[in-house]
Amino acid sequence: MSSDTWKIVIPETVEQAQPEIDLCEQAFQSDPEGGRRTVEANGPQWVRLLQDDHETVAGLYIIDAGQWFGGQRVSCWGICGVVTATHRRGEGGAHYMMSQMVREAHAKGVALSTLYPATVALYRKSGYELAGRNDRWALPVRTLGSYKAPGKAVPFGEDEIDDAMALYRKRATHGNMDRNDLLTEWKTKPHKEVVYRYFLVVDGERCGYMIIDKKRHGGKLLIRDLVTLNPAAKKLAVSVLISHRTMYEKAVWAGSPHDLQLFEGPMFPPDRDYAEQWMMRICHIENALTQRGYRNVTTELHLQIDDDIISENAGRYVLSLRQGKPTVQRGGDGHIRMHVRSLAPLFSSLMTAEELAGAGVLEGDADQLAALTLAFSGPQPWIADSF
Ligand SMILES: CC(C)(COP(=O)(O)OP(=O)(O)OC[C@H]1O[C@@H](n2cnc3c(N)ncnc32)[C@H](O)[C@@H]1OP(=O)(O)O)[C@@H](O)C(=O)NCCC(=O)NCCS
Repeated sequence: MSSDTWKIVIPETVEQAQPEIDLCEQAFQSDPEGGRRTVEANGPQWVRLLQDDHETVAGLYIIDAGQWFGGQRVSCWGICGVVTATHRRGEGGAHYMMSQMVREAHAKGVALSTLYPATVALYRKSGYELAGRNDRWALPVRTLGSYKAPGKAVPFGEDEIDDAMALYRKRATHGNMDRNDLLTEWKTKPHKEVVYRYFLVVDGERCGYMIIDKKRHGGKLLIRDLVTLNPAAKKLAVSVLISHRTMYEKAVWAGSPHDLQLFEGPMFPPDRDYAEQWMMRICHIENALTQRGYRNVTTELHLQIDDDIISENAGRYVLSLRQGKPTVQRGGDGHIRMHVRSLAPLFSSLMTAEELAGAGVLEGDADQLAALTLAFSGPQPWIADSF
């Protein structure tokens, strides 16, 4: 099959986006009603369809959001629902569609794109690399003793979701998504599931919230979203989880890679219940380097970046940091050389420059590697959202 007749189509209505809903239903056994709701909440203009003269070959969803790095919001397209019709697989359709999408992101100035891969090979081909984790932690509440912490869990309704999201944004931890309407809806008003929402109030102050799905997911109490802004909120959250121990084996939530490791309570550190890795693509190097926050260092880094998909992205850059404030210019000596894929785990602080050099995917002398590591270092990157 030839790709000569392939074109990317942007639907204007939910009806025009229907082929993507149908393809997702076939591939992921997803609920078509939920798919329709997703398109309505996200907007049909964020679906991309790959079509030829006969039919829709493949499709994907774009989630127009942001991602925090170094305390700053970096523009980001989350990608999900990447799917090719069963009878059209192996023709290069998904690769073509992904490549066109990252070029479109670049043209629109979008710095990053992030996704959860079912196969890393497909996304590596279009410049993505592993860049962080989504860890679900499990606390075996059934076997824990009683634990009471000061404060109260105060129920809240849909009318106060914005207040809860303001607390979420206050946390803005390294790698977390700055949620758009769709990501907010998936966490706070999920399709079909009944959820219970509580502010964590200590000394009269809202210092976090939790959103609980009380269906028994195999004995698990599923915490759809958990935000704790200080140690008192963490203690209160743990006491609320443990208060469910008569009916549930364990409580599960998405948290940072070291969540509750040092918590002093009636428990060992929680177990990792499930973990997913996400991949990231630097779609617009200049915007990505400019929008990110850095350590308070003063240095000048000369980068040479290869990019075989977005040719405008490739080339030399000088990243100058003055007490952590970045300016980015084209040019320079290009002493530090890497493919755009290697920039993703460096940018997210998942890997150091020395680790990337050790893997053979970044070149530079020891002093340059040390400077690069220092500039991009940060807490372990994580995302609480699944998409
Ligand atoms: C994964 C999927 C989207 C690939 O679509 P496709 O149009 O057949 O992919 P392409 O022909 O463009 O292949 C591009 C690259 O992806 C990788 N790839 C494709 N199918 C793959 C598979 N089934 N398993 C692992 N890697 C695969 C290969 O690296 C391939 O490059 P290569 O042919 O040079 O080796 C398709 O198999 C699908 O829809 N699967 C079900 C849904 C799914 O898993 N979606 C991904 C969600 S993250």
